[in-house]
Amino acid sequence: MNVPNHVAIIMDGNGRWAQKRGLKRSMGHKEGSKTLEKLALHAIDMGVKILSVYAFSTDNFKRDKEEVDYLMDLVVKYFNTKFEKINKKGIKVVISGRKTNLRADVIDAINGIEEKTQNNTTGILNICLNYGGQEEIVDGAIKLAEDIKNGLDVSNFKREDFYKYMYHELPPIDLLIRTGGEKRVSNFMLYEMSYAEFYFTTTYFPDFDKSEFNKALFTYENRDRRFGGINDQKHN
Ligand code: FPP
Repeated sequence: MNVPNHVAIIMDGNGRWAQKRGLKRSMGHKEGSKTLEKLALHAIDMGVKILSVYAFSTDNFKRDKEEVDYLMDLVVKYFNTKFEKINKKGIKVVISGRKTNLRADVIDAINGIEEKTQNNTTGILNICLNYGGQEEIVDGAIKLAEDIKNGLDVSNFKREDFYKYMYHELPPIDLLIRTGGEKRVSNFMLYEMSYAEFYFTTTYFPDFDKSEFNKALFTYENRDRRFGGINDQKHN
């Protein structure tokens, strides 16, 4: 099977999942966190090396304080106590995003989980938190400008070289999944998704289980990736 090396998920539809059941939106985030944990373990079993997920965008701060606080509490709880299986599996957890505007206990939890899992080598779970794709590019450009100021020669600088200036120097995304029915990328990992295959599903994220994930992998397997070139076998 041709398994994507780097899969990214826009975990959408938590709120609607809860509302459909007459529950508070936050209950969708609670259920979504369980789904995320299961998927991270499953993705590794399927041969995926890197899983990136959109947990909270820089724009999500526009939501009600109650919902934002609930999501941050969930993050703290999961990083501090619930990621034991992920650690045992050998998954390294990294967090992408700006540290500004985050609560002190959230920053502590981020540092804790990154430190605890830093030597793990089975795979990587990249959690995007207080994250924006344009922000990541801007932050990278600022770092590059500093290096240039300090004498870096950029006469042969290539697009691949810019990955070094992203939050964690992760490789390009092969497969981007968006749950919840919308068909947009919402400022997620813009630099890394330049040649990603897109998979959209109406399934709400809490219901996006292992078999739904496998469906996305099977779809990917049948895609004809040309990276701007021509696939000789199919186009002669
Ligand atoms: C979008 O659904 C989802 C989010 C804004 C949050 C996603 C977060 C998680 C799944 C939990 C992350 C947990 C950890 C431990 C990292 P939505 O609320 O916009 O859904 P809607 O479109 O139905 O309203």
